[in-house]
Amino acid sequence: MTTSTILEVKNLGKTFERKISLSSLSFSVKKGEKIAIIGPSGAGKTTLFNLLTGIVSPYEGTILIDGQALDYWQRKKQLANKVGVIRQQFDLVESLPVIQNVLVGRLKDWGFFKSLWSFVFPQDKQVAYQALKRVGIEDKIYVRTSSLSGGEQQRVALARLLVQSPEIVLADEPVSSLDPARAEDVIKMLTKLADEDNQTLITTLHSVEFATKYFTRMIALKNGHLFFDLPSDEVTPSLLEDLYRLKEFNQDE
Ligand SMILES: Nc1ncnc2c1ncn2[C@@H]1O[C@H](COP(=O)(O)OP(=O)(O)OP(=O)(O)O)[C@@H](O)[C@H]1O
Ligand SMILES: [Mg+2]
Repeated sequence: MTTSTILEVKNLGKTFERKISLSSLSFSVKKGEKIAIIGPSGAGKTTLFNLLTGIVSPYEGTILIDGQALDYWQRKKQLANKVGVIRQQFDLVESLPVIQNVLVGRLKDWGFFKSLWSFVFPQDKQVAYQALKRVGIEDKIYVRTSSLSGGEQQRVALARLLVQSPEIVLADEPVSSLDPARAEDVIKMLTKLADEDNQTLITTLHSVEFATKYFTRMIALKNGHLFFDLPSDEVTPSLLEDLYRLKEFNQDE
């Protein structure tokens, strides 16, 4: 069985004020793969995600999603069906009840008036309930989001993603504000849901331990360059040491 390519990044480059954030990055991703993007602070991980979601434009290179350029999906207003994002700061509206935050994942399918209306009378309650049930917090459906713990809020963000149901899930440091036990719990859930829904999952992580345990492939970035792209079981401690080594220690090399 051949698995099709869902994402292809070719020669991608991005500069901010003439400083390189990402340089000639190329890789391709097969449908259903689970990839951890690792690398030190400032390596270009978030920049890569911002490029993949069209938030910023590259100065060179191309991004193909399902064989079509990213702006093709943007023009057809279908990018949200292809790519969904979950971030470190869950970007939930804390003053709203959980159900409203979950249903934001539906906005792409709704017209303007239905979207507005939903903030008065929640629509598709059943859809929200089922998503919350899958992440284990259906009892919180009408609770004010700000009253939830960090771990629970991240589950709300996961439920919102379930409702959006994109083909590719990008998670940018999804657990860095959680304690280790809750962090592992969320990563476990993220990978399980992606498996169940046959989604492609690409996550940036500062925890190499979680990357090794839950992801089959690691792409390492350093100073905006590809440092390695390997199956997780081929990543050695010495490669990781080189990846995270601070500059001072590099000087006599
Ligand atoms: N909007 C911006 N304006 C100017 N420089 C930027 C901007 N966004 C990113 N950069 C620069 O690009 C480089 C890569 O940043 P990026 O946020 O992608 O790193 P990262 O790998 O996500 O780091 P972290 O692990 O700390 O989240 C950094 O040097 C950063 O200062
Ligand atoms: Mg980042």
